[in-house]
This record gives sequence, C-alpha cells and structure tokens, in this order.
Amino acid sequence: APVRLEDYRPTDFAIDTVSLDIRLAPKATQVRARLAIRRRDTAAKGAPLVLDGDELDLVSLALDGRPLAADAYTAAPDRLEIRALPDGPFVLEIETRLDPDANTKLMGLYRSSGTYCTQCEAEGFRRITYFLDRPDCLSVYTTRIEARESDAPVLLGNGNPVEAGRIEGTDRHYAVWHDPHPKPAYLFAMVAGDLARVSNRFTTADGRDVALNIYVEHGNEGACDWAMDSLKRSMRWDEEVFGRIYDLEVFNIVAVSDFNMGAMENKGLNIFNDKYVLASPDTATDQDYAGIEAVIAHEYFHNWTGNRITCRDWFQLCLKEGLTVFRDQEFSSDMRSRPVKRIADVRLLKSHQFPEDAGPLAHPVRPRLYHEINNFYTATVYEKGAEVVRMLKALLGPEDFRAGMDLFFERHDGEATTVEAFLACFQEASGRDLAQFSLWYEQAGTPTLTVDSKYEPEARRFTMTVRQSVPPTPKQSAKKPMTIPLKAALIGPDGTEMTGLSVAGAEMTGDTLHIRNPSHMIVFSDVPARPVPSLLREFSAPVHLKSDLSDADLLFLAARDTDPFNRWQALQSVALSALIKATQAAAGQRPITVDPELVDAIGASIADDSLDPAFRALCLQLPGETDLAREIGKDVDPEAICQARRQVRATIADRLAETMLATYTAMTSPGPFSPDAAASGRRALRNVLLEYLSHGTGGQDGTLARAHFDAADNMTDRAAALGVLVHARLPGHEEALAAFADRHGHTPLALDKWFTIQATAPFGDALDTVKRLTTHAGFSMGNPNRVRALIGAFATGNQSQFNRADGAGFDYLAEVVLSLDKTNPQVAARLASAFRSWRSLEPERQARAEAALRHVAAMAELSPDVRDIVDRCLQ
Ligand code: ARG
Ligand code: ZN
Repeated sequence: APVRLEDYRPTDFAIDTVSLDIRLAPKATQVRARLAIRRRDTAAKGAPLVLDGDELDLVSLALDGRPLAADAYTAAPDRLEIRALPDGPFVLEIETRLDPDANTKLMGLYRSSGTYCTQCEAEGFRRITYFLDRPDCLSVYTTRIEARESDAPVLLGNGNPVEAGRIEGTDRHYAVWHDPHPKPAYLFAMVAGDLARVSNRFTTADGRDVALNIYVEHGNEGACDWAMDSLKRSMRWDEEVFGRIYDLEVFNIVAVSDFNMGAMENKGLNIFNDKYVLASPDTATDQDYAGIEAVIAHEYFHNWTGNRITCRDWFQLCLKEGLTVFRDQEFSSDMRSRPVKRIADVRLLKSHQFPEDAGPLAHPVRPRLYHEINNFYTATVYEKGAEVVRMLKALLGPEDFRAGMDLFFERHDGEATTVEAFLACFQEASGRDLAQFSLWYEQAGTPTLTVDSKYEPEARRFTMTVRQSVPPTPKQSAKKPMTIPLKAALIGPDGTEMTGLSVAGAEMTGDTLHIRNPSHMIVFSDVPARPVPSLLREFSAPVHLKSDLSDADLLFLAARDTDPFNRWQALQSVALSALIKATQAAAGQRPITVDPELVDAIGASIADDSLDPAFRALCLQLPGETDLAREIGKDVDPEAICQARRQVRATIADRLAETMLATYTAMTSPGPFSPDAAASGRRALRNVLLEYLSHGTGGQDGTLARAHFDAADNMTDRAAALGVLVHARLPGHEEALAAFADRHGHTPLALDKWFTIQATAPFGDALDTVKRLTTHAGFSMGNPNRVRALIGAFATGNQSQFNRADGAGFDYLAEVVLSLDKTNPQVAARLASAFRSWRSLEPERQARAEAALRHVAAMAELSPDVRDIVDRCLQ
C-alpha cells in the first residue's frame, strides 16, 4: 500500500533507549534488543504497540523480564504486535536470529568479503530487530558486539567505545559502544571483521581531540591517504563555513566492497562503498579522487544535516540530502575551481535529473506519495534538492542565508523535522515570504524560462520579457508560477559588464532578479550601447532557458562573458544546436556540416592560455548523447544522435588538428603524479584532445593513442587512452585491453573501468560483449559495483546500443532485472530505471521498450522495488 505525506501521525510510543547485544556468527547471529518504551501522552489508551520487521525470525520475547503470554502478541516476519501493555514505562526484550551470509539484499546485517556490516537507511534496521523503524523515533543506543576473535578482531559501533574484552574460556571477544546522541534507527551501524586500520587525529575548533580511523581490507592501507586528507579538510571546512563542530571522541570510516549505494552517514561510523575511499594513482582516476573528496565530505556533513537534525518522515528526505549535497558542492568548490565544479554539477543535473523530471518517474523534490522509499534516493531529491538550497541562498543573499542556517541548527538540533520548519528559519532570518518559493519542493518538472529582449538606442533602453512555464508531470497537470532567481548582467560591445544601471520590473538581490510572475518586463535604463545579456549566470536556477540570442551573440559571450560558467554555457548552446542539425542530417542521410564560427570558437578556447586547463577541457567537451535526446524531446533516434556526434567531433578534430596537437603536447605533465586540481586539469585537457585527435583523420592509425596508453603512469591517462582506443576501434585496441586486464585483473575497482569502457563502445556488438563479460572471472552479479560498471554502464552510458532498433538491449536489461530482483531488488530497481525515457523514443523503439517493460510487469513475483519502477514507467 502506498505511504502518503498527509497520513503522517507521531508514534504512540517512544523508545528512549536501545540496548543491543549482537552475537555474530555467519549463519546464525543472535540479536537481543532491550528497548525502554513509554506510551506518549498523545497516544490513545490501550493502543497496541506495533513494531516493524522484515524477514525476521523471532526467538523470544519478554516484557519487564517476564515472557509474554501467547495471546498477548502476534508475531510475523514483517510485524510484531503487542497487546495488554502496562500504562507506565516498560522494557521489552526481543531476541531474533539472523543469517548474515544469506542476506544478498545488502540491507540490514550482511557480510561483505567476510566482514560483517550493516546498512539501515531507509528501512534496514527492521531486518535486524523489530522496531519503530521510522526517522522520528529517536533513541540513545548502546551496542555490545561479540564475535570470534580470529574472524573479527575489529568490532565497531556508533558513538564512543566504552568497554572491550575477551570472553573467558572461549575464542570470542566483545566490545561495547555507546552513542549519547539520540538518533533514528536508520543511523544505527555495526561492523566486525579482520580489517586494517589507518589512523589520524583532528583537533576541533573548541580544542577537543578526535581520533580518526579508516578501516579497509588488509593490503589497502596505502590507498587511504586521500580519503583521510579529505576528511580532515571537511571537518575544518564545516567549522569555518557553517560553524559546525564534531561531537564525538572518534570518527570511524569503514570501506566495504559490496554496497548498494555510495556511502552511509551512520553516527560516528560511516560505512562506504570502497570505490569512495580507496585511491592510488595507478588505480583511481582524477574523477575518482574528486568523487572520494566529495563523498567523504558529504557523509561527514550529514553529522549535522541529517544526524543532529534528522527527518520527521521519508517525505522529508531532501531536507537532509539536498542540503548536504549543497554543502558538499560548496566544499568542493572551495577546494578546487568554483566555475569548474559548478559546470560539472550542472552537467550532472542536466544529464540525470532533467531526464528524470521529463519522464514517467518525475516527482517533486519532496514527494507526497511513495510505494517504495528506496526508489526515491533520486537525482531529483539529491541534485535538484541541492539546487533549491542554492536558489534560496541566491534570493536571500549570503548573510541572510547564513543567519537562516544558524537559526535552523539552533532551533532544531536534536529533532526530526520538516521542510516547512527549515523554510521557516529562512523566512524569519530574512523577513521574506517564502510561500511561493516553497513550490520548488512541491511541483515536479523542469520550468522553462523564455527571454526575449530588445534594445532601443534613442531611449538608451534595454527591455527583456521573461516568461515562465512549468510543464505537466505525472499526477500534476496544472502548475503555479514559481519564484525563479535569474542572475543576469549586460555585457557591452567591448566585453565589459555594464554596471550601475537602473533596473525595473522585478525585485533584485545583487544581480539576481526574482522572477515570480508568469511574465515580467524587465527594463534597464541608461544603457549606452546594444548589450548582450548574460542570462542565468552560474546556472542560478534549474530551468530550461530559451532566449532569442543569436549564435553570434552566444559566441560573443563564449569569448567575452565575465561569468566563466556562462562562457561555457554559451559555447555549449551553440554546439547543441549544431549537433541537433547534424542529427537531423544523419537521420535524413544528408551530409553533416559544422559552422566554421563554432569551430573557431572551440579553437580559441583550446589555445587560450589565460584559461584554466580544466575549464578549457570542459569547453571542448561536446554536449552528450542524453543532452541531445533531451533537447530533441520526442521521436528520438539514439543511433542518429550517436553518429552525428561522432562525425561532428571528427570534423572539428580535422579542422583544428594543429592547435590540438600543440596544446596536447604542451599539457604533458612533468614530474610525479599529483591528484590536485591543477595537475588534474592538465590531464583533463590533454585527454579530451587525445579523444578528438584519435577520432580525426590523423589519429586513425592509433599511434598517438597507443603511445599515450603505453606512457601512462596513472589511471586517468591509461583509462582515457584505453577508452579512445576501444571507442574509436583503433589498431591496437585489443592488445591494450589485454594489457589493462593483465595489469589490473586483481584490482576489482580498476577492472570496473575495463568493463565500463567495453560496455559503452558504440558498436553493434556491444551487447554481445556485455553478455560475454558477465562470465568473466572478475565479474559477479552479487556485487553492485560490478553490475553498475558493466550492465548499468551499458544501459545508461551506451544510448545507441541499449536503445538498439531491434529491441535486444531492452530485452537483455529486462532479463537481468528479473534475475537480479531475486537477490538484490534495490540494485535491480536502479537498473530498471534506465527505461525512464522510453516514451521519447521513435515509435518502433518505443514499442520494443514497452514490450520489455510489460514482460517484467507481468511477472507475479516482483519485489516492491522493481514493481514500483515498472508500474510508474508504464503509467
Ligand atoms: N544517506 C546516504 C547518503 O546519501 C544514502 C543511503 C541510501 N540508501 C538506501 N538504501 N536507499 O549519503
Ligand atoms: Zn546523503
């Protein structure tokens, strides 16, 4: 049955303390929970206590020390109801038995490469014991963990360590952990295993000493430095920028190799997918280093936004996720180049969130209804949720934003709260009415802003007509106008920003116009010459911008705009329309041509040494296949898109070969590898140039790419060269694949890149390759990272082959979803969401995608996770 926001009701009972005694064994773990419970004043007298469970095996039950009579309770694997309760507080003792080895869902308590670990968000704690498994039930936890010492010398829990010792006369030992901060069950965690430890210390701004530990499998100790460094920088940054100080004596991070998501912010004991911890130059790319820095920061920042202040219910997920993504984005911006980070984030938003918002899986940042909460850990909740916080900052200005954050921390510390309570803090701190702004949490769909402008020289007046519209989305046909921050400036003919103009027609904060009506007429007076407006600077709102700027205006901005984000955006916009024209030509079998002005603009950005190489690399990157599909919107032919894009790239490469080769050579990095932003920027530029050059006529013999591959002393360069060799099918690509497998065959995270590169090759045999690689010794359907690297990469990163005209890509994915659903429904549901844009395909492909979806939907035994995705896709 669906869960609805309007049905929220506080619990009848509070569980003030939880004391767990967990005796670990691979196939029969015993969990004893001692819960101190009291009926709330608001509860109806005599209401029974109903606890959540999921596949639980109840061993015993006692109330205030006495076993319960058989007619006093009803126990099922998913529910425990207890009747005839005392009026006053009572203690409930529950014993359950678990089989961690058999837990392939990777929710609750499971084993990963021999290590016992847990994942409780969103509803995994109920797979450990019966509980009020909802985020508004806050309790103080004490955890005793016991295991055979030789299997699990390391025993970790939430909070601070209290006690540890051997159990006389046995081969077992134990540890007791206590977390003084009340928390919901989804933040509970424990880990036990034979792990190596890398330690460090941090002194907080208020002078307390915190022990920092990262636990990894033996042999990986050398790959933790970057994660540790990122953690220390995150801790300092949160003190300096948000005034947030860490609140326990220890902070532990554990890396595990089987993990459904990226990482988890359990109080004092973050558990990570090892992909976001382990890094060495030989196995991790610059992107991996940046990802580790961001995820370490994200989970750490949750300590305040998520843990100290948590969510009242799962509809409020964006309260912690959107806000924490915003915070980690700001952290990375401060650590690296702000414009480069902003461009990377906007690319991700447009390639993942915009398609989600435009298809059958569209939902508001704060949904009002769900069937399966695990399917709402989405780009909309995370990435669009972060954009909403960013817009709040743009509308309020930095001072009022900070005052609102401070008030939020002060007022709601220790609570499980809501989006309304969050917004109320900013409303109070700024004195602004945020009622209309709050629609960003309620209305799904990407708004469109249409801007038309005119300049009247005699009147020295520049007028912009700004119109907004919000498209219909599932279950929301009519939309209200939103508050949209439109950061804008006028660029004069000499390339300088016009300042001191008087503006009428909308309220402003700094350079940001508050667009609130369906239509605004914005008038700038005393404008001395025809300007080019630089619109939606820094991507000030997650909208589609349609303006009447000509390609010439855009290329002017690409060369002159003082906002680097908009320089990049302007060039992208011109490239996007060129690619759409090329796609139409490809579909109609007409020759593909590229405007020389676009080629020149790209050439200029390659050679402009005043620009950061990382920024130049982004300027060179053509809009992706999903960007084109989104822009085309309907009757999409992914093969035509792919072909057009490849040909445009080759044409540009041929015309700019000389400049490209010169810059390629100039970007060679002397000296030892460093993952810092400057060095990684040079590699990014050099590698994108390698890609162009290898797809051009001059690169066809593969000499350059092979030399690049052979000379690579780090994973970034090696993987880039391998990608080019395989994706351009250059001579030597097979040897390079073999050499890579030889070198990295025993490093799963490195081999994942080898799987992904092959799965994303845009050729007719890609599907056969994927099928063949599922039998490779390094592949396993049981490991989410492997599944994502091979099958996930094929379904989302190989648009032309997944969407093959004969439907074989769809049929294959449907088959994998069905088989994986039996062991890991969450990962199966993720894979299934690759179908989300099926309705925008051309009719033949659409029919084949629909048939595959219907085949899945027709199965009787689907998990709620996959059922929810296919049902919504088909609605
Ligand atoms: N809270 C985690 C994070 O964003 C994500 C956990 C999601 N887990 C899940 N099973 N849905 O850092
Ligand atoms: Zn998070």
